[in-house]
Amino acid sequence: MTILKTNIIGLVAAAMIVSVPVSAKIPKLKANNIDEVIKAMTIEEKADLIVGARMYHQDENAAPHIKESWKVVPGAAGRVNPVPRVGIPCVVLSDGPAGCGILPVEGEENYFCTHFPIETLLSSTWDVDLVKNVGEVIGNEAKEYGVDVLLAPAVNIHRHPLCGRNFEYFSEDPLLTGKMAVAYVDGVQSNDIGTSVKHFAANNQETNRMNNNTIVSPRALREIYLKAFEMVVKESQPWTIMSSYNRINNVYASENPELITTLLRDEWGFKGAVMTDWWGGADGAAQMIAGNDMIEPGTKEQAAHIINGVKNGTLDEAIVDRNVRRILELIVKTPRFKGYKYANNPDMKAHAAITRQSATEGMVLLKNDNQALPLSSKDRNVALFGAVSYNFFSGGTGSGDINRPYVVSLLDGLKNQHIVVDDNIKAIYQAYNKPKEQGEQKRVEEMPMDTAIIKYAAQNNDMAIITFGRISGEYIDRVSSDFFLSETEQELVKNVTRIFHNENKKVVVVLNIGGVIETQSWKDMPDAILLSWQAGQEGGNSVADILTGHANPSGKLPMTFPVTLSDHWSSLNFPIDQKIDRRWSVKTGLTHDTKNVDYTVYEEGIYVGYRWFDTKDLQVSYPFGYGLSYTTFEYGRPSVKRDGEKVIIEVAIKNTGKVAGKEVVQLYVEAPPGKLDKPVHELKSFGKTKLLQPGESQMITLSVNPDDLASFDEETSAWVTDGGKYKFVVAASSRNPRGDVMVDVSPSTRKVNNVLNLPAAFKK
Ligand code: BGC
Repeated sequence: MTILKTNIIGLVAAAMIVSVPVSAKIPKLKANNIDEVIKAMTIEEKADLIVGARMYHQDENAAPHIKESWKVVPGAAGRVNPVPRVGIPCVVLSDGPAGCGILPVEGEENYFCTHFPIETLLSSTWDVDLVKNVGEVIGNEAKEYGVDVLLAPAVNIHRHPLCGRNFEYFSEDPLLTGKMAVAYVDGVQSNDIGTSVKHFAANNQETNRMNNNTIVSPRALREIYLKAFEMVVKESQPWTIMSSYNRINNVYASENPELITTLLRDEWGFKGAVMTDWWGGADGAAQMIAGNDMIEPGTKEQAAHIINGVKNGTLDEAIVDRNVRRILELIVKTPRFKGYKYANNPDMKAHAAITRQSATEGMVLLKNDNQALPLSSKDRNVALFGAVSYNFFSGGTGSGDINRPYVVSLLDGLKNQHIVVDDNIKAIYQAYNKPKEQGEQKRVEEMPMDTAIIKYAAQNNDMAIITFGRISGEYIDRVSSDFFLSETEQELVKNVTRIFHNENKKVVVVLNIGGVIETQSWKDMPDAILLSWQAGQEGGNSVADILTGHANPSGKLPMTFPVTLSDHWSSLNFPIDQKIDRRWSVKTGLTHDTKNVDYTVYEEGIYVGYRWFDTKDLQVSYPFGYGLSYTTFEYGRPSVKRDGEKVIIEVAIKNTGKVAGKEVVQLYVEAPPGKLDKPVHELKSFGKTKLLQPGESQMITLSVNPDDLASFDEETSAWVTDGGKYKFVVAASSRNPRGDVMVDVSPSTRKVNNVLNLPAAFKK
């Protein structure tokens, strides 16, 4: 990291100045001459700007300045082509969300990026300030590596536990997702770089993701799948939005004017540019007309379509100009346009400290019988089981992966805290891991462990820790065998707990996972369970900080852990264990042949996650919003005030235990009966205390606007808040109410556009 890369941008700019004659009449892009520049641009140049840099197809005939731009931040996911004749620089788009996702490229100078915790862990912090801070740091790192727009955050809803990309998404709840998205975008954009909030919208499975037709009601769209996008657009004005691959009610998201123009721009007031997901959609002209301004990562054929479309009159140049204008408005805000001199030398040490500390705040203590954790001074010798303990997963795979400098395993994390890990057990696992290690984080398959070895370990150590790991990613959904513990894993937890308990020694399970797994059948066995998620490159250190009590866990679940998979209503309509593997641009055309592959019916409507489990009063393994602490909290009686129509709930939280800790306080609202059916309750606000010392109290203020209580009435295309008495419940989880107040709410209605309706064949 000490060697500074030559600033390629400088070279490119210099080359342009030398090779292109400057005419006095040709305007050069400035913040205030966009119209003039558009007038001066040829249709070929406009197409160049709209269609990304074509580098993936290595278009040998591309103009020299375009080829040159491929070298600008090599390894970034995309680029907006430069148009040097009118002073438009190449603008760089790079992945996220768990950091700056620049991949290593052979033959180029490569740099590591800090691997931060996955989004699911960030939302488990329930701490908007923390997430904003992580966003600030990720944005700083991206900017220092020459990135103009970070392709993050991803705000799709956890509709089903097996979606392969849930780790990149925040939660099953739209309010929590929306608040996290606002914090993340505000953080990143505070660096004066852009974000791309993705994937817009209803992209909740990976199976056949480029073609799948999401069949979803306007109500479920509005209340569940679009809500976080709406919040982030209205509160943070992200510079860009990325449309999703899938169709929504028959029309590709990227070709859907109702989605991208009527709703996003006209109704919500989005001011930025929309880009496709990589090779998303099928018809470039339809994308342009819909208001999808940027076609990424771009092919020469797509550019030709636009040029020919304008020339033969099938594509109105005014539409092209409208989209070009939005791209130019984006470009003039970028660091590259402003000549920012990045040095490829961000403060990696400081960023590592931030990821380490942030990760501890999103880990969820699921079980802690007899205060098994934190470890006492007597717990010094640990038998460490589970292959993943020695090869921790820092995050998931696909575009959300990060070229990190290292990953701290649990082994290293424990050693760093002077905990002695049994060498013999370590040697067995390291030999098992070796063939696949090679820097790759792919091994999940557990190793069978002989009971004689476990007995030896129980006699020679103070306690045992077992890690179970899971990793998933883009293109493929998880399979049900990934949700359940394998037979080998079940044997391991059974034998280790039985044998260690016989010796009066405790067992802790750590879950190094990116999505929900089954816990009901085995959770009684160990003394403690810590859900560490995939916690970034410092993961092992963060876990050790919690195990040793240097940090007190304060994370709570952003989704439900069900008893079993089929308890989710969405399990009836999700590609569970589908053998079909259609990854990339296999465009099949619209068919309704194979259920859950060609099309997926969101039959459950708004009953996603706890909205379903709590309404049906189904047993769950761990409820939404659940998480333990090393201390205890007392909730005072909630009180209510009004500020106009706004309802303000105040509740005092007191640390009644022996160590300092933070509590996440949730506000659920139960609506009176009205025209529409509703979940028994919905999360409407939340807050987190500061670090409270033993005996210390803090007043938490939770506010709700009447509009936040509205449900979407499809019959009238309106958000409707019924008048009447609402119960406001202050709670420690969706199943742990701690106090409530009744509040009178006046009725209100907000009419909006009647869009995105169900196809006739699917209407009830
Ligand atoms: C993913 C996006 C990502 C893009 C660029 C796509 O495959 O769906 O999330 O930003 O690639 O890497």
